[in-house]
Amino acid sequence: MRYIIVIFLTITFINAAEFSHKPYDKTKSCKECHDMGEGKKFVHAPVRSGACTSCHSINKSKSRNLLRAVSVSKMCTLCHYKKANIIRADKHVHPPVKKDCTGCHDPHAGDFRFRLRADSKKDLCLTCHIEKKEYITSVKNQHGAIFAKDGGCISCHDPHGTGQPKMIKAKSIKDLCIKCHNKELKREEDGKKLLNVAKHLKDNPDWHGPIQWGDCALCHNPHGSNNHRMLKKPFPEKFYTSFDTKKYICFECHETEKFTKQYTTTATNFRNEDKNIHFVHVNREKGITCRACHDFHATKDYPHHIAQKTSFGISQLPLRYIETPTGGSCAPACHIRRGYDRKKAIKNLR
Ligand code: HEC
Ligand code: HEC
Ligand code: HEC
Ligand code: HEC
Ligand code: HEC
Ligand code: HEC
Ligand code: HEC
Ligand code: HEC
Ligand code: HEC
Ligand code: HEC
Repeated sequence: MRYIIVIFLTITFINAAEFSHKPYDKTKSCKECHDMGEGKKFVHAPVRSGACTSCHSINKSKSRNLLRAVSVSKMCTLCHYKKANIIRADKHVHPPVKKDCTGCHDPHAGDFRFRLRADSKKDLCLTCHIEKKEYITSVKNQHGAIFAKDGGCISCHDPHGTGQPKMIKAKSIKDLCIKCHNKELKREEDGKKLLNVAKHLKDNPDWHGPIQWGDCALCHNPHGSNNHRMLKKPFPEKFYTSFDTKKYICFECHETEKFTKQYTTTATNFRNEDKNIHFVHVNREKGITCRACHDFHATKDYPHHIAQKTSFGISQLPLRYIETPTGGSCAPACHIRRGYDRKKAIKNLR
């Protein structure tokens, strides 16, 4: 009982605690004694005009900084009600915005635009997201979206909030990516021109599952990665590779059996009766990687995401795939037309 009374009294005391400015010569203006950084590049309008008391109550306040409102954010939104309404309407609001606007904005003045506490493109974000700072700078394949001159965290994220998870600035992750990948972007390291993804998706209506779901980030890490093309899991960089299931991001979603069972009548449809043709091509010392036959972004005309052409060195070789009800055949430059049939094995010429 005694404890409860003590707690009760303490709470009452804290609540009632009031702060006021210690007595001073009222003929002096606030600025004569307080330098709030008016010499800095960006000064907040009410500070510049000397309207200190629009935020501070010097006679009676519940906060040590003699603020007018209990919460700083409430004070900011008193004037910035339009911004507050936009943020309130966002389904996904950045947690520090809910807490306190001054975590990022200096209420008085600063050397960065909008009086941010650091450069808005990425330094500001990295003051709190220390784990990301470590990550983005240590990965082998860094993303130009973060490091290019006009890039930065806020090219993809809104610092306050949006309608989308993780406050991304587009309707879906796919739309976010193709805002920049709507031309052949150049890789800094080797000058390689990258696929114009927006055009590729427009020209090829048969989109791979994860792209239909609008989520490129199921395969790519937007913050960079140690794998080829910033993939979340490895994918072989070259046309040929010795087979190992750990080398393929594809097996995050597809069964490994398609490539580990030499004979099967169930694991894959790419078989000549029970002879697994996926196995024949892929599971060997000089195995052919999926890119030889499939395009994992989007395709047209051929089923099963089979590509029109395969890139071999600098050449583009047509696959000439033909599907039958029980199998198929193709005539790439690698060999003459060869077929497979699930019902009755086709005898191909050597
Ligand atoms: C004659 C000089 C003088 C004038 C004029 C003056 N102040 Fe102060 N103010 C001080 C001093 C001294 C302190 C106490 C600083 C301390 O305790 O470290 C102080 C404290 C404060 C604090 C609290 C700071 C803290 O660290 O808790 C605020 C806020 C403040 N003043 C705002 C104002 C505003 C707004 C005006 C104008 C309406 C103003 N002051 C006018 C001298 C002045
Ligand atoms: C837009 C609201 C706003 C205006 C206008 C404003 N302040 Fe402040 N002030 C704050 C907030 C919020 C804090 C709490 C410290 C923080 O979060 O950075 C603060 C803190 C202070 C402090 C104590 C801490 C420090 O940074 O030294 C002083 C002194 C102060 N203000 C003086 C002034 C004076 C003088 C003016 C007018 C020239 C002024 N303020 C105008 C919002 C304001
Ligand atoms: C007394 C009213 C008032 C309060 C309270 C106030 N502001 Fe402002 N703020 C202004 C005015 C006026 C401008 C100038 C608007 C303009 O130029 O469009 C401004 C500008 C800004 C800008 C730059 C916007 C732009 O488009 O250039 C930011 C950021 C900002 N305030 C943040 C804050 C934060 C954070 C707080 C709370 C600590 C706050 N404001 C509290 C009146 C206020
Ligand atoms: C996590 C950091 C962060 C927090 C917290 C934050 N802001 Fe901002 N704010 C920014 C950044 C970064 C920009 C610059 C955006 C840009 O350049 O596109 C900005 C810009 C602004 C602007 C001017 C441009 C615009 O988007 O309208 C206003 C006004 C503003 N903030 C108000 C607020 C208010 C009010 C709060 C609190 C409710 C707040 N901010 C909290 C980071 C923050
Ligand atoms: C004042 C500290 C602070 C700053 C500055 C800050 N953040 Fe955050 N951010 C947080 C906290 C706290 C969380 C919630 C915990 C977490 O997910 O780490 C968060 C979460 C996030 C999330 C995940 C949101 C979700 O819905 O899961 C993203 C994305 C994000 N921040 C991006 C940014 C970007 C971009 C910037 C720079 C404009 C930035 N942050 C600056 C503190 C900060
Ligand atoms: C190319 C666009 C892009 C850029 C640039 C970007 N992000 Fe992200 N970020 C995303 C996407 C998309 C997600 C959701 C990821 C997912 O679903 O795997 C995300 C998620 C996050 C998350 C929450 C989940 C996680 O990965 O921890 C944080 C925090 C975050 N980003 C912070 C940052 C910071 C800080 C920067 C700048 C250094 C930044 N982002 C730059 C697109 C981007
Ligand atoms: C703000 C513009 C921008 C956005 C948004 C963007 N990118 Fe990029 N991306 C670039 C630039 C510039 C490059 C080329 C420079 C580099 O990274 O080497 C690039 C390169 C890439 C690469 C090749 C990286 C390598 O090392 O080979 C991939 C893969 C990629 N982006 C995927 C994505 C995905 C997935 C998204 C959406 C989550 C996305 N990008 C969003 C600008 C962007
Ligand atoms: C199923 C996994 C997967 C998804 C989903 C995916 N990608 Fe890729 N992406 C890859 C793989 C694997 C590569 C490497 C291809 C290669 O080297 O032949 C790649 C390569 C790339 C490249 C580099 C192409 C080049 O010119 O070398 C870009 C840019 C890219 N992806 C962007 C995107 C964008 C944007 C999206 C969403 C619309 C997306 N990716 C969705 C797996 C995926
Ligand atoms: C030599 C060409 C070739 C290579 C290399 C290849 N595939 Fe296939 N794949 C096919 C053909 C042809 C089909 C269509 C089989 C049918 O339905 O008739 C197919 C079908 C598929 C299917 C649909 C289900 C099934 O097994 O019938 C998936 C999933 C698939 N491949 C994934 C992959 C992955 C992952 C890789 C790389 C590890 C890969 N493929 C390598 C030619 C190839
Ligand atoms: C995030 C999960 C995911 C990853 C990772 C993934 N896929 Fe798929 N894949 C799907 C889904 C879902 C479908 C079914 C929808 C469709 O036809 O695209 C599919 C379908 C396919 C098909 C066509 C199957 C058919 O019978 O028509 C092929 C071929 C294929 N994927 C190849 C690949 C290759 C190659 C990779 C690795 C680069 C890969 N996938 C990685 C989810 C994934």
